[in-house]
Amino acid sequence: MTTDGSWRHTAPERGDAVTISVDGEPVRACTGETVAAAMLAAGAAFERDRSGAPRAPLCNMGTCFECAATVDGRLLTRTCLIPAREGMVIETPGRL
Ligand code: FES
Repeated sequence: MTTDGSWRHTAPERGDAVTISVDGEPVRACTGETVAAAMLAAGAAFERDRSGAPRAPLCNMGTCFECAATVDGRLLTRTCLIPAREGMVIETPGRL
């Protein structure tokens, strides 16, 4: 680490803690992070393919739909684009 001021600490501060529901289970998240990030951190299941193999977010920028779930009743919501908010209800077809 240099001390000449050309480098600076850029790690973002985490937001306030919130709890979302994923397939009926509480999942902790922080404001400012996406629902997909919170689900990945919690090890939650995403969609499964026709063979039953688990899928997971791929692009994290809204183009692949691998992270799609029902969010507060809205079908096929790309969870990588949705910031976590207290009390959100997420339902995935990946639940076993
Ligand atoms: S991870 Fe690709 S659309 Fe969300």
